[in-house]
Amino acid sequence: MAATIITTIRELTIAAQEMRAAGKTIGLVPTMGALHEGHLSLIRRAKAENDVVFVSIFVNPVQFNNQEDLIKYPRTLNNDVQLIGDYADYIFAPAVEEVFPTPPNEQFNFGSVANVMEGAARPGHFNGVGVIVGRLFHWVNPHKSYFGEKDYQQIAVIRELVRICQFTTEIIPCPIVREPNGLAMSSRNRRLSPDEFETAAQIHQILLKSAQLEANVPTIKAFVEEEITKEPAFTLDYFEITDDTTLQTIHSFSEAKGVMGFITVYIGAVRLIDNIRYR
Ligand code: PAJ
Repeated sequence: MAATIITTIRELTIAAQEMRAAGKTIGLVPTMGALHEGHLSLIRRAKAENDVVFVSIFVNPVQFNNQEDLIKYPRTLNNDVQLIGDYADYIFAPAVEEVFPTPPNEQFNFGSVANVMEGAARPGHFNGVGVIVGRLFHWVNPHKSYFGEKDYQQIAVIRELVRICQFTTEIIPCPIVREPNGLAMSSRNRRLSPDEFETAAQIHQILLKSAQLEANVPTIKAFVEEEITKEPAFTLDYFEITDDTTLQTIHSFSEAKGVMGFITVYIGAVRLIDNIRYR
């Protein structure tokens, strides 16, 4: 059976409460739509692990710190509904006025995981993510919630949100889904020309090569920065090697148990992010 489309918070909370009262386990997959295989992998996993799946499709204005990015963000609801098919039971696709009849007041202090990298580059972004994801947790009260590791730092922030607000949902991180050429799937990839799409694949290739080097932070850092700079179409925003939990920069592998690399690159006006686990 195809998913039921819901546009109001009232219908959403009633549906979720009814499912819980009937003893069903609930999985939630928050998205901004323009769905691709990355999103669908989360939705399929949610379906496999829960009785009932809610997918939200909402281009959340309060997490965009760049108006042009918000305006240009692809909106493809009809196609998204087709792609979801019967993997979800409910699709929550509200209007902006439904979610924000007045501007939100929530101010979170997510601490150090939210102050670095994306948090530093996009002021207010993670607070805006916290506003919408916190409200979705509140309305749906899911047993499990699914997030992609493409936005690894977002998962760390949401874990902090769960801790601060004492939500009971379990956070399920899901691996990055890539294009055949290695580029991490992203709704923003649609804005790349065919040439840019091929060039963008180098981001993942360079990170893979960097993981073959001796595990030495300065060597890896210099290699990645140099290789990215060699490609004229790229502008490096940042590349950081961090502890996988605190997300603070490390200078030697001895400083952390788990080690990740995080990169953000512009191709023209399109901002692409990716990451790799070194250990
Ligand atoms: P959005 O960018 O639409 O992504 C929705 C979810 O899909 C996120 O958890 C994201 O990490 C995951 N995802 C995106 N591309 C992926 C890929 N290539 N492989 C695996 N997972 C991928 O992230 C957001 O929306 C918003 O910030 C949101 C959490 C919905 C709050 O508005």
